[in-house]
Amino acid sequence: MKVAVIGSGIMGNGIAQVMAMSGYETVLVDVQQEALDRAKTTMEKNIGRVVDKQGLETTVEEVMQRVQLTTDIQHVSNAEVVVEAIVEKMEAKKALLQQLDEVCEPKTIFASNTSSLSVTEMGAATKRPDKVAGMHFFNPVPVMELVELVKGADTSDETMAVLQRLTEAMNKQSILVNDAPLFVVNRILIPMLSEAMFVYEEGIASAEDIDQGMKLGTNQPIGPLRLADMIGLDTLLAVQQSLLDETGDSKYRIPFILKKLVRAGHYGRKTGRGFYQY
Ligand code: NAI
Repeated sequence: MKVAVIGSGIMGNGIAQVMAMSGYETVLVDVQQEALDRAKTTMEKNIGRVVDKQGLETTVEEVMQRVQLTTDIQHVSNAEVVVEAIVEKMEAKKALLQQLDEVCEPKTIFASNTSSLSVTEMGAATKRPDKVAGMHFFNPVPVMELVELVKGADTSDETMAVLQRLTEAMNKQSILVNDAPLFVVNRILIPMLSEAMFVYEEGIASAEDIDQGMKLGTNQPIGPLRLADMIGLDTLLAVQQSLLDETGDSKYRIPFILKKLVRAGHYGRKTGRGFYQY
């Protein structure tokens, strides 16, 4: 079976890696040749690591032989499933899906890796809304076991079944979700991170103690404020804003400390400062 991934950034190269390691002929497309070059280096390194660690029979070369890296979208025409992992902008995603609609055979299913945009709206932009769904992977893709499979208003059960089988073949677990803001995991996670920020800004405890409390008290590998710094406070603010806008529900109000840190340019680990110094 042939599959394809569009967008070879952080998520796209991980998705393509797991597909290729699961035995699929995989086409990885990006508009930038440099992004493909970077993806190739990352994939080779990560595949090598998995092969060594798990003592697999295969080699990096053997896996990479199944991967075609290209800037030409025509190569995905006969794929069974195309996963898009391009920038998180609705207009860009719709334009890509309309292009894919022309390029691909009628059988091809389009799955979006979006974390916050409406899969229903994407499907409606195509001539095959029954074959458009969400396939939300988690970062880092080769490590994280979960995929949220998101059913849009017009996605068919058959499409969901194909994506469920693909997820299993990629050695991952799926949960089924109806299209809704932030799906399941982030819908629950994001308000928890917000609550940690409220607790912090109310001076109830230090950042270290909040994180230590949640780590030891709820058995999480990382505390909420450190996780927020890792995700990136700018990204987090954008996601929170979209949740608030989409639902209009004041329970999703945004902690002032988050806006303040972002306004100051302190985005967390990537800028060296957030709730912690790095
Ligand atoms: P990224 O910025 O690392 O990669 C995006 C890639 O898409 C870039 O290489 C860019 O050149 C390419 N691209 C842009 N427009 C294109 C087009 N029309 N055709 C082909 N390639 C195009 O982004 P990242 O972080 O990998 O995110 C991709 C998607 O995955 C987004 O929808 C994001 O919301 C979602 N996502 C991201 C997670 C994360 O932790 N970064 C987690 C789960 C989902």
